Amino acid sequence: MTITRDDAVRLDEAAGLAHTRQRFRLPDGVIYLDGNSLGALPSGVPARLADVVEREWGSGLIRSWNDAKWMELIGRIATRIAPLVGVRPADLHLGDSTSVSLFKTMVAAVRLRPGRRVIVVEPSTFPTDGYVAAGVADLLGLELRWCDPADPLASIDDDVALLSLTHVDFRTGSMYDMAGITAAAHGHGALVQWDLCHSVGAVPVDLTAADADFAVGCTYKYLNGGPGSPAFLWVAPQHQDAARQPITGWMGHAAPFAMSRDFARAPGIGGWASGTHPVLALSSLETALEAFDGVSIAEIRASSLSLTDLFIALIGERLGDLEVVTPIEHARRGSQVSLRHPDAYGIVQALISRGVIGDYRDDGTKPGIARFGFTPLYVGHTDVYDAVEHLVGVLAGGEHLAPQYAERNAVT
Ligand SMILES: Cc1ncc(COP(=O)(O)O)c(C=O)c1O
Repeated sequence: MTITRDDAVRLDEAAGLAHTRQRFRLPDGVIYLDGNSLGALPSGVPARLADVVEREWGSGLIRSWNDAKWMELIGRIATRIAPLVGVRPADLHLGDSTSVSLFKTMVAAVRLRPGRRVIVVEPSTFPTDGYVAAGVADLLGLELRWCDPADPLASIDDDVALLSLTHVDFRTGSMYDMAGITAAAHGHGALVQWDLCHSVGAVPVDLTAADADFAVGCTYKYLNGGPGSPAFLWVAPQHQDAARQPITGWMGHAAPFAMSRDFARAPGIGGWASGTHPVLALSSLETALEAFDGVSIAEIRASSLSLTDLFIALIGERLGDLEVVTPIEHARRGSQVSLRHPDAYGIVQALISRGVIGDYRDDGTKPGIARFGFTPLYVGHTDVYDAVEHLVGVLAGGEHLAPQYAERNAVT
């Protein structure tokens, strides 16, 4: 039976998340399917940023560290992110990029397993994860072992200190079984770290139930914190006394303003800070997280699966030749759908010129990938229907073959 636009309208009426779209400012005429890269602008953020800049910084000046409680930003934000990933706020730190957070947690993890010489990473992971692992291996004289993405556990033996995986793959949108893999790796005595960049705010994550050891995640994708908003890192409570992170800056000191010569680590997660945290970016993030008020991650997940199901069904019905590389099985699917095509870059650019924004990712020697991310807080089923309608139009008219798409922009 053919899926109609009315079917999409009905699904939106049933989904119950239509009201959260008002919490974002999206330009008219744009269908935004790139929240897996940069989340949309939450409506409260411009006013918050203006207030922090004009009043707190402009008028309050240095006094705002105390008066505006800038030192408490990290803890307040951790309280909002913690339930999305199944942890205690007291075990979350924010402030660095994902890459720096990966460096800190990887070094700390391998130091917890002296005598073990291997860090395991999968080769199709987001490049920064592999690059940082290679840097850590080089720094500490360890081996970086690339595993089979389809079977990471096959590479785990008793010499492995750390298995570091990305929970939802940035290219394909496929999702690992966090609890199963963590338990099996623990069976060999290895620690496990999860990169949650493509999971947090989109799929339910329970790091505590999975018995994970470390996690990192960015906040500019499904959490809508804004370009370059700082990442979070999580350290399981049982490791916090023993784990030592390598960037021992003054903000991780037990008494930063004692200005003492020697480093004395702050207790708990406070010791994971290094330098002064980015107040403007964290303020934006704090307000952005209000878009999640009153919405459970279970509702978001149900809506996300419904959106991606519809997209996949419409592609199958109307563009059956297109290769969908995202798993069909719900348990293995994140919140994006990826299509492989020799002209994937041109397809994405032609769609963008029609107001449908997705993005393109290279895939080594294979044809590239057009990615479409579905953020239920501001994407509805009718958007999905209309996006596929545009895709059909692009391919039917050969718009993706236009010469201007032969050259790639710096950011794809
Ligand atoms: C899985 C994953 N890790 C890390 C990053 C980025 O790291 P950073 O925040 O340091 O730029 C991304 C960015 O898209 C990502 O998808």
